[in-house]
Amino acid sequence: MTEQPNPVLPQVILDEPKKVRLHPTNILDEKSQLEQKYLEAILKRGLVISGGIGCGKTELMLYLIKEISQLPHAQVRVYDIVGNCRRLVNYGFAHEPVHSDTKVINDLKAKNIIFDLTLENAEERAEVIKILTKTSFNFRLKAYKMLNNFEEFEKFCSILSVVEEANTILNTATVKDFWFDYLAMGRNYKMTSIFVMQRLADSSTKAIERLPNFAFGMTKGANDLLKIKNMVEDYKMWKILRQKNITPNKLEPYEFLMFIDDEIFKFKLEEKDLVK
Ligand SMILES: Nc1ncnc2c1ncn2[C@@H]1O[C@H](COP(=O)(O)OP(=O)(O)OP(=O)(O)O)[C@@H](O)[C@H]1O
Ligand SMILES: [Mg+2]
Repeated sequence: MTEQPNPVLPQVILDEPKKVRLHPTNILDEKSQLEQKYLEAILKRGLVISGGIGCGKTELMLYLIKEISQLPHAQVRVYDIVGNCRRLVNYGFAHEPVHSDTKVINDLKAKNIIFDLTLENAEERAEVIKILTKTSFNFRLKAYKMLNNFEEFEKFCSILSVVEEANTILNTATVKDFWFDYLAMGRNYKMTSIFVMQRLADSSTKAIERLPNFAFGMTKGANDLLKIKNMVEDYKMWKILRQKNITPNKLEPYEFLMFIDDEIFKFKLEEKDLVK
């Protein structure tokens, strides 16, 4: 007798958390606009933005948030730590302040939302981000199992969480169980993230390798460069990037070397596209 699947809690087949190395196949020309397919790719699989001080990380993040938040099936949740994201209120984002004594978060359902984390220490902020992400993750995990119907689940929106100063979450010393689950399986439940960080070298390789899309801004630190070089497994690829003068140490501010799905290109953020 073949085993019948349980109708309420069927077996869930998840993608194996692949060890992701970057092995894109196409190097494209420079871009200053991102076509919809790249925004969809980021929504579907997330993105890490890294680079040195003042290379334009925050502005790139805001640009992507603005563009992706306009997709009807996207819910964007921004965790604002330093007040960089307030201007998104001009683009229809709900604004939810979170203080140390906040007991209730009202607005998890808003289409797009800024969680304004006015919390003093980094651990406390990381904890709030974790609680809010985990709540939705657990809910979706349950829903995914119970719906037993992929089409029904497809009606769920995609939740993109945006975290600046993501080192507090992905640091080798701090990244913990939940975040590994989330990084490995979140996209099965239509939950992904944009993580922004200055020092890629401090981040956990085990965590980073589960994220396939990257935007590397101007990077001078030898450790950060080495980490990127090691991720670009294919030595020939690195050589081509070098010949084209687009390795991250050669970039100007506001220029990014983007790895999205199987494509690589230089993206230049233009002043006219900055989120005001
Ligand atoms: N395309 C551009 N043209 C002109 N100015 C820009 C452009 N992009 C960003 N800037 C400006 O450059 C400055 C640095 O950018 P941004 O704050 O995004 O850097 P960052 O990488 O986040 O820096 P940090 O590491 O300090 O957080 C900002 O004042 C921003 O307004
Ligand atoms: Mg910044």
